[in-house]
Amino acid sequence: MDNISEIKIQVITKMINRKILPFFLLLLIPMFLSAGNSINVIIPKPQKVVKQQGNFSLTKESRYYSNTSLSKNAINYLQRHLKTNAGYPLKKSNRSKNTQIDFSYNPKKIKKYEAYRLHIAKNKITIEARDKAGFFYAVVSLMQLMDPAIWGESGSGKKHKSWAIPCCTIEDYPRFKWRGMMLDSSRNFFSKTYVKKFIDRMAQHKLNRFHWHLTDDEGWRIEIKRYPLLTKVGAKRGSGTKLPFSTYPAMRGKKNRVQSGYYTQNDIREIVAYAKARSVEILPEIDIPGHAKAAIVSYPKLLQDSKDKSRYRSVQKVSENTINPGMESTYIFLDNVIAEVSKLFPFGYIHLGGDEIPKGAWKRSPAVKKLMRKKGLKNSKEVQNYFFARLDKILAKHKRKMIGWQEVLRGKNTLRKETTFMAWKSVKDAKKIIRQHRPVILTPVQHLYFDQQYKRSKKEPGHTWSTPVNSKKVYALKPVKSAYVRGVQACLWSETLLNEKIADYLTWPRALALSEVAWTEQKKRKWRDFHKRAFGKGLKRLKVQGVHYRSVVPSR
Ligand code: ACM
Repeated sequence: MDNISEIKIQVITKMINRKILPFFLLLLIPMFLSAGNSINVIIPKPQKVVKQQGNFSLTKESRYYSNTSLSKNAINYLQRHLKTNAGYPLKKSNRSKNTQIDFSYNPKKIKKYEAYRLHIAKNKITIEARDKAGFFYAVVSLMQLMDPAIWGESGSGKKHKSWAIPCCTIEDYPRFKWRGMMLDSSRNFFSKTYVKKFIDRMAQHKLNRFHWHLTDDEGWRIEIKRYPLLTKVGAKRGSGTKLPFSTYPAMRGKKNRVQSGYYTQNDIREIVAYAKARSVEILPEIDIPGHAKAAIVSYPKLLQDSKDKSRYRSVQKVSENTINPGMESTYIFLDNVIAEVSKLFPFGYIHLGGDEIPKGAWKRSPAVKKLMRKKGLKNSKEVQNYFFARLDKILAKHKRKMIGWQEVLRGKNTLRKETTFMAWKSVKDAKKIIRQHRPVILTPVQHLYFDQQYKRSKKEPGHTWSTPVNSKKVYALKPVKSAYVRGVQACLWSETLLNEKIADYLTWPRALALSEVAWTEQKKRKWRDFHKRAFGKGLKRLKVQGVHYRSVVPSR
């Protein structure tokens, strides 16, 4: 017998002598209970989970009942996954009495929006909510409690006949209303199929705002019927086209190959409906007045002052990429574009960019000089404010509100009070916006820019212009407590995203951490506990779906 075993026996003998062994064994019971079907697997972590004994078994014979059409999306989602991975759909029962899964509209009990109560007993599952999102999130939590195979997309794996779901009661609601991710479809174009996958994976983790960066210097990616050259000219990038190679080569192409791509209005309607079925709203971004080279090369006469002798470059080294705020044609053009964008996207907000207007833009433009004289504008800051005040009026006409990058909020401005700002440069800048009593969404580069490398290494894909962002750093973001904070959002800029695998890699598992920052109350989340869930079941669920996530497990 080795020394350690001897010591163990001595300790147990002492415990028996002192009659404390039974108490010690009692302490071990929860460990044995949780060893089997753990309930601590849900991401983002629910606000409250109480474990009960036993399992519910979902089989071909299980039936559902619902007293509300609000549960329709949630039921469809569960049925589709069961059909693919179990080989049978969940059938409906006509009565609540003899059913195994009950969807119940209960606004008296469920007070918060997007909230739900999920009660899993041995013979019945009860789901209560007050809105579509609540029912959807209850189903997502239910599916996370099942074997990860439920998330399979192709159905080519082994079909499970029966699914054991551990008994428990979950009461859950989101911390923030805005739980976002941004995808840049301009620098590199992503197929409609990939965009849908991106949205679906967001929804699985209760992220609910898809910010779609549709225009930039390198490509205009949304069909506008009134201005066909925006996509005919502005959606082609590479040698022989009018668009710059300010960034990395195009996706799927070798350096200097033409990369084209845009979403037709039908594509967009399809994606909006797909997102809506998963309780995701889409925020389209038309980035103006800077970052607009693709629009300018398509319609130079409308958007640039031909007498403007200003020469400048953006921080990304793109020359003359800023549309001119002194010309009436600019406002007519943007009014027409916003009219079509508003029709396509039912969400109440449109993002109008406003970031990184290059120094020196418009400086020598006679049209801007004339505007300044006429309106009494003293400097470029006031010209910018005039520009966005007019855009705000155009948005109001189309019943939309504005979101902009933090640079839109400069000096005195007359923007409507619901105008919301994305603070990307730092948490400190978010606090400045709060001090001005303006709504803010936190997107700090130091924590939430997913285009950045996970760690400094030549082997890691991603940008290096800021600090590296690993999953722990994402998780470490503690959102400022203020009624002006609408929520948090990660941004996936795509200059270095040469294929979809890189896009997956840079997003996952960081987006797991994001979901918990966005959803779970601060005091209920701990890195070690998250680590266990994320790098256990969390990654397994992504693997089943073929997500090309980063598999390095960080230290606890
Ligand atoms: C930004 O990163 N230019 C918003």
